[in-house]
Amino acid sequence: MSTSASSAPATSTFAVTRRVDAVSDADREAILADPGFGLSFTDHMVAIDWTSGEGWHDARVQPYGPLLLDPAASVLHYGQEIFEGVKAYRHADGSIWTFRPERNGARLQRSAHRLALPELPIELFVDSLREIVAIDGAWVPSAPETSLYLRPFMIANESFLGVRPSQRVAYYVIASPAGAYFQGGVTAVSIWLSTEYARAGRGGTGAAKCGGNYAASLLPQSEAYEHGCAQVLFLDSENGNRIEELGGMNLFLVKADGTLVTPEINGSILEGVTRDSLITLAKARGLKVEERPVTVDEWREGVADGSIVEAFACGTAAVITPIAELKSAEFTLTMPDVEDRLAMSLRQELTDIQYGRIPDVHGWLVRLDAAASAEAPAGA
Ligand code: COI
Repeated sequence: MSTSASSAPATSTFAVTRRVDAVSDADREAILADPGFGLSFTDHMVAIDWTSGEGWHDARVQPYGPLLLDPAASVLHYGQEIFEGVKAYRHADGSIWTFRPERNGARLQRSAHRLALPELPIELFVDSLREIVAIDGAWVPSAPETSLYLRPFMIANESFLGVRPSQRVAYYVIASPAGAYFQGGVTAVSIWLSTEYARAGRGGTGAAKCGGNYAASLLPQSEAYEHGCAQVLFLDSENGNRIEELGGMNLFLVKADGTLVTPEINGSILEGVTRDSLITLAKARGLKVEERPVTVDEWREGVADGSIVEAFACGTAAVITPIAELKSAEFTLTMPDVEDRLAMSLRQELTDIQYGRIPDVHGWLVRLDAAASAEAPAGA
């Protein structure tokens, strides 16, 4: 069922150059049969340039391929880079939709502001998603719980070694067919509590989706792997006891009465679109949602006295993943083995909306497969 929501045609003009050696139908179908996560990429990409003199210009769709970067490009030295994660979902009737893209567009703008990059107009952001899907729509898988993961990103590419905002920037969208984010599929994961490293500090870049945050999470993430954990959980850098977020996901606790508790948006955690959507869905069910500081002690005591019954991680890539245990150098907190997890029922409701299986009463879906562009002759 494809319901409601806007399906306005693209308003920007993208010049289109088709790849002449596109992946064969048979090879693409083989990839779509078992896409994994982030392993394969579609035939094309979107590119838009920006200079301080001209603003955004030269919007185009071009064959997917390596970027030509000057070795002095500022992104390579000072990490002036931001990105987004958005999914395109195929509905049962074959149509292709995305979920609340204007939220990702607005977050990209906030990230751009923090990283001294130019803000891409939200309409152009949404059009860029339409364009990649218009040309590579055949790459949107149709098996249950699969999607085409869209990765918009922006880099500073001025060749200049002085430390100041780049005067030249490029925005791209690449696309990658996706199955489950975690190798084991949707099963409860163990997470590692990092007590040595923080993800963000007051006034830092914690609320921005910038590569540097993720680079800084990799060492603690490796520590997590060494302890058999799928993700790392960071605490606030000031007190070292408040839960912030995981390496790439927000976190929720569930109380015995169904109340959801999640760290509030405080300038150092990412304002997740999935996080916000789950809050809306939970409230619509009449559940209470507390957005406030949450400490590890509260979590441990709550599990001990039975008042906290579930914990889960959420994000665009992994949707919702239940947490089985929280491990640290000092303790292991095992979550109860709940039969009907609220996490899984919220996951079902959210994905039912995303895949058009139930009505989109919140008006969150935007149709993507209706773009029209002036095509340049083939020949890349
Ligand atoms: C997402 O959930 O889209 C993320 O950003 C997580 C990760 C793949 C970086």
